[in-house]
This record gives sequence, C-alpha cells and structure tokens, in this order.
Amino acid sequence: MLPLSRARAAFRILISRTSVRLLALTLSTILLYVLVIDEHVRPPTRFGMTFADYEEAEMGTASVNKSSTSIPKVLLVSAMFPLAKSKHSKADYEDWLGRFLGSVTTDLYMYTTPELAPMLRQIRDDALPISSMTVNASYTSPFDIPPLRGLEETYTRMNNMDKEKWHHSPGLYAIWNAKPFLLDSAVKHLAAQGKVYDYAFWNDGGSFRRTHRYKEWPSPARVEQVWEEGAKLTGRKKEDLLFFPIFQTPDWQLRKWKEGMGPIANSVQFSEGTLYFLGERAGLIKATGSFFGGSASTIQWFSKVFYAYHHYYLTRGLFVGIDQDIFNALFLLFPERIFTVWMNDPLAPAHKGITPSPSLKPSLERGYLGECGAEWFYYQFWLADRSTRDVMRMIWLREERWRRWGWWKERKLCRVTRAMSMLDVLRRSFGEEWKSPPKSVVIPGENRLPTSSASGQSDATTTTLRRNKGNFWQVQVSKRQYP
Ligand SMILES: *[C@@H]1O[C@H](CO)[C@@H](O)[C@H](O)[C@H]1NC(C)=O
Ligand SMILES: *[C@@H]1O[C@H](CO)[C@@H](O)[C@H](O)[C@H]1NC(C)=O
Repeated sequence: MLPLSRARAAFRILISRTSVRLLALTLSTILLYVLVIDEHVRPPTRFGMTFADYEEAEMGTASVNKSSTSIPKVLLVSAMFPLAKSKHSKADYEDWLGRFLGSVTTDLYMYTTPELAPMLRQIRDDALPISSMTVNASYTSPFDIPPLRGLEETYTRMNNMDKEKWHHSPGLYAIWNAKPFLLDSAVKHLAAQGKVYDYAFWNDGGSFRRTHRYKEWPSPARVEQVWEEGAKLTGRKKEDLLFFPIFQTPDWQLRKWKEGMGPIANSVQFSEGTLYFLGERAGLIKATGSFFGGSASTIQWFSKVFYAYHHYYLTRGLFVGIDQDIFNALFLLFPERIFTVWMNDPLAPAHKGITPSPSLKPSLERGYLGECGAEWFYYQFWLADRSTRDVMRMIWLREERWRRWGWWKERKLCRVTRAMSMLDVLRRSFGEEWKSPPKSVVIPGENRLPTSSASGQSDATTTTLRRNKGNFWQVQVSKRQYP
C-alpha cells in the first residue's frame, strides 16, 4: 500500500471518530442543559399563572353600567380582489384566508371576483351554516364600485406621483379606497333581506395571519362593553360612534393642519395597518386601516364623509391613493365621533409596572402592555371575550420565551387597556386648547351648514412638516399635483 493512501485511510478513521465524539459531546451538552441548567437560566416566566395574575391583566377593563343586557349582532365585512401584478399565488391567499374564514365564526360578508368565490366558500368552516357567510361576486374589480367608477386613468396618473410607486398600483389604491363603500353596502344589502346587525366592521382578509384562537370575534358582549365605554368618554350615543384602533399619536405639528391641506401621509401609520407587504419587506410596510366600524348609521355617515373628501381632494389634484391618509384627515375633522384603543399609550393605567420591551422600537411589536403579540393586531385581543383573551395570553407568553432581547426580563400577561376618545388622543399631541379645524366640504345628505369658511388658507400651500422630537410620526402634508 502506498503511504499516501494509508494516510488517507487513517485520516478517514480519525474524522469519523472525532465526529462521533463531537456529536456525543454536543448531544450530552444539550441534554444536560435541558435537564439541569435550563431550569435556572430560563427567563423568569411562571407558566403557572394564578387567578390574581389574570385579574391584574384585566385591570384596564372599564366598569360600565350594564344598561342593556341584550347581546348585539355583529357582522364582519371583507374583500379579496387579487391585484393584477400580485406575486401571490392562490395558495398564499388560501393560507391567509384560512385563519380568518376558517376560524372566525362571526357572520361574514365577503366581496370577491367570480373566479375566487368558490375558493372562499371552500375555505369557510363547513360546520357553520351557509347563511353565515354571504359571498358577493358582483364586482370584478374595485373600480366597478360606484364611487370609483371611471377612475382608472386618474388613479394611474396619480400612481406616477406616488413616491412608493414601486410597490403601489392604481388597483391597490382602489382596493383601499373601496372599503367604506363596501362596508356600508354590505350592511344595507343584508338589511334589505331582513338581516339587521347592531355593529358591522371592516376587517382586512389578511389580518389573521398569525396563530390565534379567535372564534366568535369580535365578541358581541365585549363590543357592547367598549361602546358603552366610548359613549361615556365622548358623551355621544353608542350608535354615533366609530371605532378605529390607533398605532401612534400624530406629530404635534399637525395641530396646524387645515381641511384644505389634504390627506395626511406618514411613514409610520397613525392607525392599525394592513400588512400587505409583511414578510417581503417588513421595513417598508404601507399600512392602511385594517379594522374599523360601528352601527349601520355611523357606517353610512362615514362612507359619505369619506367619499366627499376623497372627491374633494381628487378634484383639487391631491394624492388620495392611500385610504389611511384620508382616514387621518377625517380623524382631525371629526374626532368627536371616533373612539379608539392605543396599545402603546405610556400614560395608560394598564401600563403601570411594565417595562417596555426593548424590541419595541425597531419591530413595533409587543411593548407597553406585556406580551401581546404583534402590536398591529392588539385590537383583536382587545375585542375578544375573556376566556379567549386568557388563551391568547398564554400563547404569547410561550412564544416570547426565547426572544433575543430582554430575555432576562419577566414576561407579563397581556393587559387590557382602556378605550380613548379621539379628541383626547389629539389633544394629548396638540395641546388641550386644540380644536378641530373648520369644515367647508358639504357632505351629501348631511344637513350641516359649512362651518366658518376655510377659504384662502392653503390653495397653493405645499406644507412639508418633518420629523420632530423623536416622535415616530413623520408627517408630510403636501399638495401633490399630478399631471
Ligand atoms: C347605573 O345606572 C343606574 C340606572 O340608570 C343608576 O341608578 C346607577 O347609579 C348607575 N351606576 C353607575 C355606576 O353609573
Ligand atoms: C353585491 O353588492 C352590491 C352592493 O352592495 C349589491 O348592489 C348587489 O346586489 C350585490 N350582489 C349580490 C349578488 O349579492
């Protein structure tokens, strides 16, 4: 045998012996860790929570006077219109919608194209009565709905002015801007068939992508409870209140915003968002209102107001492609009818005793109320019934066991926080003396005379307000003239 091949053989034996030993060592280290050390270095989380722990987590629940014992009827409305240049396959849609249509048992009204309609029916849980989901395939595109009919070309021109043109399209603007109409129409369409709901909500189809246990969601009793709380906070009747979860407070410079300045754009959205692009480019999420609603009359009012301002800004050459920007403007114009939940309110009583998660800022998740999953979807937890909230609390606690940052800190059960009136939120940012700006746009069918003229304030204004005092809310109020 040649010395070379002998050496090779010896090397091979050496390799295999070394690797076997290494493997054994690794395995026994892991075993030792799991059996002995783990118990001592594990993050200080007690999985055996006591009754008192759960009670503490519930402390933000408002004690409301149970004036009505009736359980309201709740409807969810959503839509699934595939985008022309979407990279998502049918399987992706099936996967996202499965956690919504297949899990949530609340009555649903879904708008979609004739092609996707059978798929939606197939995803819906078979155990539920057929009548619990209405599929409306009358529109093949969101440009078919009356308020957006004939706007394809205008929206295409508007797209050229969009700084985020590369991931936005005219079709996407239309999907976003169709929501208030679709919600209102669904409620009316069902009412005409004798199906009347006390509350209806727009809910984005993709908003249930994560592990959850929500079934009868939003819990009708909980909805009634938070509307009672909202009525108390705003001094308005429950049926006049619109609910919109928020995500950040606006930059104080917006206190000078006026009706004529147009939709309010920002890099981190004010309101809870649609994660259309999550997973692809998590850092560039363009968020839009993924959940909002109220009574039938409030939904109708909101739809009228939304399209009145949409058309007003559109005819003035302003960019109206992102529904959330219009919503932001409406928050400032009609704060008295809106109430909200703000998970990261540092002054909320429920926040007491919780250190914000170190991961809060970069990821915009978790944070001020304990382990609550993704901040974007805190409203889901907030509107769930008590036992589902407890189940979700334990799911998040377990998920958070191995986070990289702040692993040494004790995990707390996700807490319920209070509701807030939009006026309080805005006054927190703008100062107690802030008042909603004067309104001049006439809302069809609303017998309100325009308040003092808003004329002459901003026809030619291009106001760009920039980041301030480390506030997350980067603001741009700009007049974008598209050709
Ligand atoms: C609840 O309502 C009843 C009847 O309207 C009233 O007498 C009572 O004081 C209220 N309680 C609270 C806590 O508001
Ligand atoms: C679909 O919705 C629209 C708008 O609400 C309504 O006019 C139409 O009748 C509905 N179509 C079906 C088939 O339900």
